[in-house]
Amino acid sequence: MSTTLAPMPVTSPLPSALEDRAVVIVGGSSGIGLAAGALLVSVGARVTLVARDAARLSSAAERLRTTPGAAVSGITGDGTDETVLEHALDQAGPVDHVLVTAGGFSVGALLDTPREQVRESVDGRIWGAYGAARAAARRLPAGGSITFSSGLYLTRPIPGASAAIASIGAVEGLTRALAVELAPRRLRVNAIRYGVVDTPLSRGALGLGDDAAVAAAGQGSLLGRFATAEEAASAALFLMANNFMTGTVVTVDGGQSLV
Ligand SMILES: NC(=O)c1ccc[n+]([C@@H]2O[C@H](COP(=O)([O-])OP(=O)(O)OC[C@H]3O[C@@H](n4cnc5c(N)ncnc54)[C@H](OP(=O)(O)O)[C@@H]3O)[C@@H](O)[C@H]2O)c1
Repeated sequence: MSTTLAPMPVTSPLPSALEDRAVVIVGGSSGIGLAAGALLVSVGARVTLVARDAARLSSAAERLRTTPGAAVSGITGDGTDETVLEHALDQAGPVDHVLVTAGGFSVGALLDTPREQVRESVDGRIWGAYGAARAAARRLPAGGSITFSSGLYLTRPIPGASAAIASIGAVEGLTRALAVELAPRRLRVNAIRYGVVDTPLSRGALGLGDDAAVAAAGQGSLLGRFATAEEAASAALFLMANNFMTGTVVTVDGGQSLV
């Protein structure tokens, strides 16, 4: 891959500067990705959502289109398949920013988890990030950014999730390595380390059936509740808009890593 020593643009770091920018969100039909889509649309960005379940994707895109003037499209596909990502970026192009929120939370104790399940969990997380970066590196302009997802369990592990936790560790490593490798192209690479965020993923993983159960479970947190998906997603807009952010893992955990 040849490098381009493009000048690094200086632009306003406010999220409003994302107006008219094109953003691909891999994992945009639910939770944090969908919330990022809504925030981006609200500041006038053009958004392309990528996810596997066509019906859920279509209803997510419809929801975002209720904002007047919203430019939203959806591409159905698996974000671990690099050709899907290339297609998404070409369809949405020219794209300025890529946000990867695709990913689940696969649990299993070391001695009880079949090797194939571990491989799936690790492959999904790493190839999703690696493939997104490869597709983006060939297409994004100077000042463009790639943002990955990580989680607080990396530094505050729980038992029975070693493969998932190792995978997000790899993504954080990839973040730093690619920030250095892609800097000559003036591309930026960051990650967001989330604490518990109220989304379908966390509700399912923690067995929380309704709002009352979420509120009760969040009470033991430092701030007395879990993050909203919008609070988590706003960090992604910050990383996209601020052209001096690269190689960084931003933690959005309500201070939970301190206790
Ligand atoms: N919520 C939390 O508390 C929390 C905490 C720490 C880290 N995280 C991380 O933050 C990210 C977002 O989580 P979330 O809570 O917003 O999850 P979510 O509500 O389950 O949303 C995940 C989104 O990713 C899509 N997706 C999953 N696998 C995909 C694949 N292989 N290809 C394309 N799209 C895919 C899903 O749609 P389809 O299933 O239709 O593809 C969905 O749109 C995840 O990586 C998660 O591990 C979340």
